[in-house]
Amino acid sequence: MRTYTITVEPLGAEVACRADQTVLDACLRDGVWLPHACTHGTCGTCKARVLDGDLDLGDASPYALLDSERDDGAALVCVARPRGDVTIEGEVDVEEGVDIHPVRDFTGTLTGLADVAPDVRRLVLELTEPMAFNAGQYVQLRTPGGQTRPYSVASAPAAATRIELHVKRSRNGAATDGWIFKDLAVGDQVPVSGPYGQFSFRPAREQPVLLLAGGTGLAPMKSIIQFIRQNGGGLRVVLYHGAATVADLYEHAWLEEFAAAHPWFEYRPALSREEHRGRRGRVPALLAEDYPRAAGNVAYVCGSPEFVADTMKALMKARLFPRDIYREDFFDSADRAAGTNVVRSPLIRR
Ligand SMILES: Cc1cc2nc3c(=O)[nH]c(=O)nc-3n(C[C@H](O)[C@H](O)[C@H](O)COP(=O)(O)OP(=O)(O)OC[C@H]3O[C@@H](n4cnc5c(N)ncnc54)[C@H](O)[C@@H]3O)c2cc1C
Ligand code: FES
Repeated sequence: MRTYTITVEPLGAEVACRADQTVLDACLRDGVWLPHACTHGTCGTCKARVLDGDLDLGDASPYALLDSERDDGAALVCVARPRGDVTIEGEVDVEEGVDIHPVRDFTGTLTGLADVAPDVRRLVLELTEPMAFNAGQYVQLRTPGGQTRPYSVASAPAAATRIELHVKRSRNGAATDGWIFKDLAVGDQVPVSGPYGQFSFRPAREQPVLLLAGGTGLAPMKSIIQFIRQNGGGLRVVLYHGAATVADLYEHAWLEEFAAAHPWFEYRPALSREEHRGRRGRVPALLAEDYPRAAGNVAYVCGSPEFVADTMKALMKARLFPRDIYREDFFDSADRAAGTNVVRSPLIRR
């Protein structure tokens, strides 16, 4: 397989990239940071300018990379592959306190598989070697059919060889209905790569923390809470977990015990179809009641693209600036086909 050189400006860093490898993959494995979120050509976060050379633009969603942007020499580097030596210009700045952990391949042995709520499974994978990651980041699992699917890590970075994932079933989904909820079994070996993503806890920020999760968007929040505890607590942290009914509130007992043991942490379930502790409503609605003004907090939002969009609106209405909001959208193939989730504002962080 031929190998080409990718030069990343303004760093001037040179990275070797195989012809069958994406530019982002080569850079992240070499420890050269480039912005990215979905890694599947859907969100547009990894858009970079090609200054010189020729890239195969790959499977970029036409919604995330418009024809006019292609014509102007832009590429989504998470799906673009080199046809020769290439120079790109990316936004290579990394926020203070965020560590860069090069992406690596691992084999995970499935040691735990549990149905924790209707259509939600908790997976525990024992990796052959430790994986360094920031609380909030995700891994990619390779399915027996050869697809890759991203899942946020729910365990703490300190437990580096044991990773926990929370997976929601998608009707007719290739990875979930076709594998994880069908024939995946304890003892199976699963190819894992990671860590990926820029949605991670920002340890350098000292404001109170709002964690806003919809469904399995709870996964990265569980990692973040444990990271904060391991680093001595100190910050005030409020977690809202959105679900339909009490039965959907997985990790409920764990979170209640965690809240009882750590006075700096508060857990507020938000149920859309049932009352809980005298309240009922989705996360954006409860948030609006509790925080007429949210300025002064840092918010982390994670869940389906619809959940993230609605929660972002509530936060902005409460006067929280985009620079104080971090988001992770759980895109899937349907979102990609619909092209509804591209975030075009440079002020919105992923
Ligand atoms: C950064 C990131 C982190 C994530 N973390 C998590 C996590 O921690 N937990 C979690 O549960 N999920 C997470 N997700 C979502 C997850 O990666 C998968 O998208 C999800 O599990 C569905 O995968 P699947 O292969 O089963 O479904 P897919 O095969 O991708 O299909 C999803 C749905 O789309 C439909 N569909 C398929 N193709 C099309 C098409 N062409 N047109 C219209 N509809 C179509 C399917 O019928 C199905 O209902 C994350 C996503 C991202 C981007
Ligand atoms: S990270 Fe490349 S399009 Fe989302």
